[in-house]
Amino acid sequence: MIVCICKNVNTSQIQEALGRGVGSLEQLERETGLGSCCGKCRFTANRIINEQEAAVQQYQPARSSA
Ligand code: FES
Repeated sequence: MIVCICKNVNTSQIQEALGRGVGSLEQLERETGLGSCCGKCRFTANRIINEQEAAVQQYQPARSSA
């Protein structure tokens, strides 16, 4: 799915960047160029980042305090 029409950035490109360690909207903008024109994609891109973080946290093993 295209997220940024202005810069032709799709969901796969965003997920690939997140997989390489990009962790913020600002980093994602630098990596892909998204958000640098009209900015209408920034909300959706930020939501994808948050969903990815939530998914990673869900699958991390619980830490023991012992
Ligand atoms: S849709 Fe991303 S900058 Fe316009």
